[in-house]
Amino acid sequence: MTRHAEGPLNGRLEDNHKRHINYLRISITDRCNLRCLYCTPRGRIPKLPHSAILRYEEIARIAEIGARLGIEKIRITGGEPLARKGFDDLLEKLVIIPGLRDISLTTNGLLLERHLDRLRDIGIQRLNISLDTLDPEKYARITGYNGFHQVWSAVSAALQKGFSPIKINVVALKGINDDELKALAALSLDYPFHVRFIEQMPYFAPGGPENATPLSEADIRSIIAPLGNLIPAGEIHSRGPADRYRIQGAPGEIGFISPVSHHFCKWCNRLRLTADGLLRSCLLSEIVTDIKTPLRENATDAELARVIIAAVGKKPLKMTDAEHKAGCGSRMFAIGG
Ligand code: 5AD
Ligand code: SF4
Repeated sequence: MTRHAEGPLNGRLEDNHKRHINYLRISITDRCNLRCLYCTPRGRIPKLPHSAILRYEEIARIAEIGARLGIEKIRITGGEPLARKGFDDLLEKLVIIPGLRDISLTTNGLLLERHLDRLRDIGIQRLNISLDTLDPEKYARITGYNGFHQVWSAVSAALQKGFSPIKINVVALKGINDDELKALAALSLDYPFHVRFIEQMPYFAPGGPENATPLSEADIRSIIAPLGNLIPAGEIHSRGPADRYRIQGAPGEIGFISPVSHHFCKWCNRLRLTADGLLRSCLLSEIVTDIKTPLRENATDAELARVIIAAVGKKPLKMTDAEHKAGCGSRMFAIGG
């Protein structure tokens, strides 16, 4: 670690494997208004009690200390972040933190449209919207809710209001949306969207689907190949694990996030904060560091900085093939992907 919390802005957080950690993903709620079949178990899901969830002031304090240590990018996730009341107040607190140059939001888009003006006023420009199909019936089958038109309307409105980039996250689901991957990729020909295909991580929660052979990046590439050559766009791995491409002349991009077939541990720059106040060093490992307890026991900024540094220090170098195949095993909806 090259800086401590008392140090100047623009510190640099490094883990024990010389990876530069500058990206914090914050899940602000474990709740979601959808139940995507690859993410949420069917049946009753135990919810975290309100008191277990970090308050916005607590999240903002961790973000501020993180920024002093060298965090530059924050992504707000869930569950569904827009389903937590007052999320915009949190964003307002985050955008004024010195040192943070990129604050973005991952949402399923259901509640998005009504909040777009407020988001723009706060200064949020980047949106990641989950949308695995263009077929309303299939949407209902995947998510458990008949909400396709609501999401598509939000996507269109976001485009019209100038949000950029708008990333469309598509989890490739064998036997469910493989017949649509080409049409989804073709969105990048008509709109400036960044369509990102995500390999489905196996998810073995009780009652969850067990998809033994999910589609690989290679499968997805061959399905969309008829659309044309993929020309590399931007520096590969400059911004994390999605390889970015463009079809000749397209306003948008196509990307792949391939946690199963291409491990990106080597480029991992991230740390996660769960809604209940645990720093998670790696999506695929159960190694966590409790920051909520010291926070609520009136720890100083310097003490909390040491907790963040300790969590970064616990990042594993890499996970094994078997661990990647096994996925994160638990509560994807609570970790926020
Ligand atoms: N595999 C891959 N991605 C997943 N997500 C949730 N569950 C999975 C899974 N099993 C991701 C999706 C969604 C985001 C919120 O989390 O990309 O868009
Ligand atoms: Fe909700 Fe996102 Fe999980 Fe779907 S993938 S259930 S929208 S958290």
